[in-house]
Amino acid sequence: MEKRSELYAGKAKSVYYTDDPDYLILQFRNDTSAFDGEKVEQLERKGMVNNKFNAFIMQTLEQAGIPTHFERLLGDDESLVKHMEMIPVECVVRNVAAGSLVRRLGVEDGMSLNPPTFEFFLKNDALHDPMINESHILTFGWASEEEIAQMKQLTLRVNEVLKRLFDEAGMLLVDYKLEFGRFHGQVILGDEFSPDGCRLWDKQTRDKLDKDRFRQGLGGVVEAYEEVARRLGVVLD
Ligand code: TMP
Ligand code: ASP
Repeated sequence: MEKRSELYAGKAKSVYYTDDPDYLILQFRNDTSAFDGEKVEQLERKGMVNNKFNAFIMQTLEQAGIPTHFERLLGDDESLVKHMEMIPVECVVRNVAAGSLVRRLGVEDGMSLNPPTFEFFLKNDALHDPMINESHILTFGWASEEEIAQMKQLTLRVNEVLKRLFDEAGMLLVDYKLEFGRFHGQVILGDEFSPDGCRLWDKQTRDKLDKDRFRQGLGGVVEAYEEVARRLGVVLD
């Protein structure tokens, strides 16, 4: 697969065309961003760790019957993915209260959420990713009723698979964000799943093993990501 020109550069990943219009190359950079790009730093090894971690999770999800854009690893910081048309909506599931839910609703940080909550956010940094509902998605044409149902169903199935996976490795999947796209008429999981886009706590100590370490200036960010990978048996190098 030949790498061609850049299609898009996001805050942490760049996307390149290939010689096949159905495939793109995702490059995971060391750039780490928080607060909609307000805080940005380069963290050594993060691109490689997230690329390999994401490959492991996407393959696990595929094996569980969840369609994803992931094709294969191409190198330390690059993966081949299907060229989807992105749906500009973020799907967030929470098993434990943290982050914006605590700020918005004043509930206790760390409280168990049963059943888990499901929220949609609009992918728009300039507007700080506002929370939206199904009616907004339909009215503004971001996705159809059927696509909304599929995104919801797939996001909750991912929860069943990953909650168990992390639990068995001594971690609590607090919350996570997923993005979907269309590929030849099918809704499939896109973007990435890594500690950049979810919250993971150690089950015993409740230590944070995710990007909250960066947001809150706790240090040891990539070390925590590598610890998560090690516990899951992901081979890094
Ligand atoms: P929140 O508590 O800030 O709403 O985030 C919930 C989870 O979703 C958390 O694991 C971070 C992730 N997330 C992103 O990675 N990017 C985003 O733009 C949003 C809204 C959430
Ligand atoms: N990923 C978003 C950003 O980079 C939001 C966040 O993680 O805080 O700004």
